[in-house]
Amino acid sequence: MKPAYFDHAATTPLDPRVLAEMQPYFSERFGNPASVHRYGQEAHVAVEAARQEVARLLGARPEEVVFTSGGTEANNMAILGVMLAQREQGRTHLMVSAVEHPSVLEPARFWSRRLGLELTVLPVDRYGRVDPEDVRRGLRPTTGLVSVMWANNEVGTLQPIKALARLCQEAGVPLHVDAVQAAGYVAIDLSRVPVALLSLSGHKLYGPKGIGALVVRQGTPFAPLLHGGGQEHGWRSGTLNVPGIVGLAAALRLARQEQQARIAHVRPLRDRLLQELPERIPDLLVTGHPTERLPNHASFVVPGVRAQTLLALLDAAGFACSSGSACKVGTPQPSHVLLAMGYDRDQALAGLRITLGRDNTVEEIEAFLDALPQAVAQARRVP
Ligand SMILES: Cc1ncc(COP(=O)(O)O)c(C=O)c1O
Repeated sequence: MKPAYFDHAATTPLDPRVLAEMQPYFSERFGNPASVHRYGQEAHVAVEAARQEVARLLGARPEEVVFTSGGTEANNMAILGVMLAQREQGRTHLMVSAVEHPSVLEPARFWSRRLGLELTVLPVDRYGRVDPEDVRRGLRPTTGLVSVMWANNEVGTLQPIKALARLCQEAGVPLHVDAVQAAGYVAIDLSRVPVALLSLSGHKLYGPKGIGALVVRQGTPFAPLLHGGGQEHGWRSGTLNVPGIVGLAAALRLARQEQQARIAHVRPLRDRLLQELPERIPDLLVTGHPTERLPNHASFVVPGVRAQTLLALLDAAGFACSSGSACKVGTPQPSHVLLAMGYDRDQALAGLRITLGRDNTVEEIEAFLDALPQAVAQARRVP
């Protein structure tokens, strides 16, 4: 049997339909969209059609969509681009949640030190949720940006983005939302939810790697970080990744068209994992919110194991899973997300994440339900 791929939060395979739309822009339609001649214009037309499509699908305006090299760049650009502009108005306070992806947390910490900004890291509850009241209480006259993700990559928890967006709008503070994990499963409509900046990434949506977008709503204070040819209305210089942009738009369109079918496929499979695994492994802890979570996402703490050991055993047994804890230079780090949720260090080293996709089958889930208890028993014997 082909190894079961249970790591769709890390990346997804490229949809063949997306690849087919991208392909001409690698070869016969190779023009630089900044060129005046017909090769350039052909590429330009494709980029602008993609921009319109992305904007329409998100309830934004085309001129608010800035294409980037992915989610990491979009997040870095949101944090630094907004805070550079806000600092000039004396707004030097920044708030981010404790469970953000490192591509939000790290630039927030780095630039706070370098630029002398004040940083508030917002706490979360046991399920990984931010309390909007904590945001309200934490706002200052000098707050320049709040950044809270739509869905968490490690535990799948959805944040109360509507409430946060309204609250920030009333306070006149831009809210940045990392929607990299949410975009495949949540219908995002910025015409109804007043988010100021939104990050996306192609490869989490059955689109290509190395492409993403930052939506910057009109009127949001913003300073460009990449200077040069003035592409993307001067907000992000650099020759555009035309096939990637075409692919991002196609992937987002398909995600929206097929959203209900994709949810209907993954949710029951995921629900079986959440229900049956704790029955088979009695001390297993489900992490993340029981209901307010991504429909394809199951996450656990497996007491008494090191995640890296368990993942290697599962890989050998034919299951590609992941953990919450990142491995830096060979040393596993406890998950900052689980620590922020109140788990202890050992528990934060024992995260297990299973993220499903449209090709996963009931047979794979059943095989996994049988295999995990054995792998856990084996992992527990490793000192
Ligand atoms: C929540 C979240 N934000 C940002 C990123 C980074 O996106 P990219 O891989 O496109 O740089 C990821 C990727 O794991 C993510 O899960």
